[in-house]
Amino acid sequence: MATWLITGARGWLGGYVLDALERASGTGDRIVVLGRSRPESLRGVLFVSADLREPEGLARAVREIEPDYVVHAAGKTPPAPDAELYETNFWGTDRLLSALRTLDRPVRVVVAGSAAELGPVAAADLPVVEDHPCRPMTAYGRSKMMATASALADRGPLEVVVGRLFNPIGPGMPESLAFGRFAAQLASPAADPVPLLAGRLDARRDFVDVRDAARALIELARRGTPRRVYNIGSGRSRTIREGLDLLVRLSGRSARVEVDPDATRRREPDDSRACIDRIAGEIGWRPSTTFERSMEDLWAAVAPRGCTVLPLTA
Ligand SMILES: NC(=O)c1ccc[n+]([C@@H]2O[C@H](COP(=O)([O-])OP(=O)(O)OC[C@H]3O[C@@H](n4cnc5c(N)ncnc54)[C@H](OP(=O)(O)O)[C@@H]3O)[C@@H](O)[C@H]2O)c1
Repeated sequence: MATWLITGARGWLGGYVLDALERASGTGDRIVVLGRSRPESLRGVLFVSADLREPEGLARAVREIEPDYVVHAAGKTPPAPDAELYETNFWGTDRLLSALRTLDRPVRVVVAGSAAELGPVAAADLPVVEDHPCRPMTAYGRSKMMATASALADRGPLEVVVGRLFNPIGPGMPESLAFGRFAAQLASPAADPVPLLAGRLDARRDFVDVRDAARALIELARRGTPRRVYNIGSGRSRTIREGLDLLVRLSGRSARVEVDPDATRRREPDDSRACIDRIAGEIGWRPSTTFERSMEDLWAAVAPRGCTVLPLTA
């Protein structure tokens, strides 16, 4: 019986990691959630209280749990202030790894990285491979790049792998992310046409369903090669407008899109697309959820009660 430790299970991605592990744990593995407060949905799963900002409590928690596998999905995302991004993403990851090292034995760890670590990538270098240089433009990207550097610098006995997530989408998507915000606005009781504030609609991103991403992190914890980064994406990019149009269709409403001039001024990549040959070839992981299905499930999770969700897919 192996022990799995999950951080960030109260969050969006970590919640799906927990779901996927619970479904796969017919093997009798023990699952322990480490976090600041207990997720509401925890059923038979153990919870140990610890904060990534407090090294002593973290070390105590890790000694109590004695994990064999760790999925580190806790972190801060924009619009958190820069200081919090560095404190949690870089220092928090570094402290977690230091605490795990005190166990003085191999522990398989997967750290949730981000495509934001790369910064803009030239069109000629797309789809981007894992070894492409990282030149992030934002504090978030830099905080994640530093966490990845700390993970890859580990000299053992930990066996640390980084899953570099491109753009997760799907049910429960937070409103800090464009499609999560559009879905919430379309589900609101505002009169038609629903006003939607958007950034650049022509920007292309590599969207991957959050449930597929969670599965990838678990597979990487099991079988990834230590000190390696693995891209987790779909391998193709789509515009934000494509997703917005699908959500408007699903809602059956009409929308008036206003472009946020602040968002369009941010120096964000025009296109982002992962090469997923490494994870497909070494681990056998590929996304299995279509973009349309992710959008349907995102909409179904927020649609007002009694609203018919018209399928986009057969
Ligand atoms: N969402 C994306 O689009 C995306 C894309 C690429 C990579 N990622 C990465 O995936 C990870 C999870 O993102 P998410 O979207 O799931 O974020 P989220 O929904 O905001 O969840 C973040 C989780 O981290 C926990 N956390 C934050 N600060 C902590 C601390 N000091 N100590 C212990 N736990 C702490 C939170 O716990 P509380 O509930 O106690 O606050 C929460 O469970 C992050 O590392 C992020 O960089 C996300």
